[in-house]
Amino acid sequence: MKNILITGGCGFIGSHLAEYLLEKNFNVTVFDRYNSNNNWGNLEYSKYKKDIKVILGDVRDYDSVNSSIKKIDTIFHLAALIGIPYSYISPLAYLKTNVEGTYNVLEAGKQNNVNQIIVTSTSEAYGSAKYIPIDENHTLNAQSPYAASKIAADHLALSYNKSFGTNIKIIRPFNTFGPRQSARAIIPSIISQFLGKEKNIEIGNIYPTRDYTYVSDLCDAYLKISKTNSTTGTVTNVGCNFEISIKEIYNLIQSNFKVKKKLKFEKLRKRKQKSEVDRLNCDNRKLVKLTKWYPKTKFKEGIRKTIIWMKKNKKIFKQDLYNI
Ligand SMILES: NC(=O)c1ccc[n+]([C@@H]2O[C@H](COP(=O)([O-])OP(=O)(O)OC[C@H]3O[C@@H](n4cnc5c(N)ncnc54)[C@H](O)[C@@H]3O)[C@@H](O)[C@H]2O)c1
Repeated sequence: MKNILITGGCGFIGSHLAEYLLEKNFNVTVFDRYNSNNNWGNLEYSKYKKDIKVILGDVRDYDSVNSSIKKIDTIFHLAALIGIPYSYISPLAYLKTNVEGTYNVLEAGKQNNVNQIIVTSTSEAYGSAKYIPIDENHTLNAQSPYAASKIAADHLALSYNKSFGTNIKIIRPFNTFGPRQSARAIIPSIISQFLGKEKNIEIGNIYPTRDYTYVSDLCDAYLKISKTNSTTGTVTNVGCNFEISIKEIYNLIQSNFKVKKKLKFEKLRKRKQKSEVDRLNCDNRKLVKLTKWYPKTKFKEGIRKTIIWMKKNKKIFKQDLYNI
């Protein structure tokens, strides 16, 4: 495994993964969405910009995906539409990007005889926890078109393993956070409101709990899973087996700022009741047992690092995006 392709490599997790694998001496090619400015998203600011090959195309377009997979050993497939609120507005766009896009990656990978394809799922596939912590046998329950599209993509990928023997591994991250994450996500949204001029911190729902992994620990899990044959044809959760509510996250972020801002409920930011995933807490025993993975960055430390990064990068970082 020397030549790596990362789809969605200009995004939040993908850009960290590209840098992480480059530091481990892999040849890294990134495939991300074509735009006429030749903008490389998060990789525009990477210190490794010159060392990473970036191909702009579209996962919805088989030809561009196929032409990017030449002499590639391993594909890390991350490209996706990820915003849950936008999936209420444009479900079909999620099917085209997340399902058809995954088909294109799987089929082109098969045609080009790549050694393995690691497909990125999401803990949203489980829906609200029926038991805690959530292991890989937990039922799947799509509570949003986003989750439905990811579940469909996972099953398609697993069917490639069963039908064609393609070396498929599904990595299922629980929530991830760290520098460069879009302010659509809750942690950067709260931090950006603390950094901005707003008097209050607007939040849709303070009660849901999530299990957060710092982004560099997720990158480590990607690499470890890629090196372990025993994860082939299966799903592997990545999370810390730790649960924190949005209210507690707000309190923790508040403790990092001198300025005091009150919480304010904002209806626009609230998911519909049946679509809200109330609890997520990861059972990571499979990952730990098979790969000896453990999270190196404690949640508090990750929050501190994210705040420092956001303070330094205010100019390139769009302020809170209203969770859309
Ligand atoms: N961020 C999280 O907490 C989290 C948790 C679980 C799973 N995931 C999954 O991890 C992956 C990466 O998420 P992220 O948070 O880095 O999101 P992101 O939006 O920052 O990155 C996604 C990337 O995919 C690219 N992309 C979208 N449509 C494309 C297309 N048609 N063609 C080519 N590229 C396209 C985007 O340009 C972007 O660079 C996704 O598959 C997501 O479902 C994320």
